[in-house]
Amino acid sequence: MDKLAKLNKTILKCTKCELCESRINAVPGEGAKNAEVILIGEAPGKNEDEEGRPFVGRAGKTLDEVLAELSIPRENLYITNILKCRPPKNRVPKKPEVEACIDYLFKQIELIQPQIIVTLGQSALKTLTGLKGNLRDFHGNKYEFNNYPVLVTYHPAAVVYNRNLKSELVNDLKNIKSIIEK
Ligand code: URA
Repeated sequence: MDKLAKLNKTILKCTKCELCESRINAVPGEGAKNAEVILIGEAPGKNEDEEGRPFVGRAGKTLDEVLAELSIPRENLYITNILKCRPPKNRVPKKPEVEACIDYLFKQIELIQPQIIVTLGQSALKTLTGLKGNLRDFHGNKYEFNNYPVLVTYHPAAVVYNRNLKSELVNDLKNIKSIIEK
């Protein structure tokens, strides 16, 4: 078993915060273990909790549509979240939960060594760059985390509520196409 698979197995049994009590499944993430691009969302939702896979619900369908528009195969990416377990009623992650969980993400990044990290939505942006505020002001820009470029974009769930954002998400993610095709 490779190091990433071992880490993800550990995540499945994690009891570092109280979310382990309400979850059905922890959701470590999935994709290519040597992916050039890591996509990072907020936390598993209901469907993800049930299936143990990231972005398989409504937001996941939107993400799949966006990737299809760009002809980017989902399996070429690594897709994960800030939190690996679902917060009850999909509430925003609490600081102690992020603190308990974040080392898993840092280790995943260290093992995958991507060319670029993509933050989907506020939580991932704030956690990786410390930036807060309206995504309108940040999306499409690149920042840095531990010497990795960080491309900021909207969370696909935002597109579910505002279809106008879909073209912006597609446009932002055009940045990763050339990286994947290299
Ligand atoms: N929203 C997220 O942030 N992550 C998922 O995996 C699903 C929905």
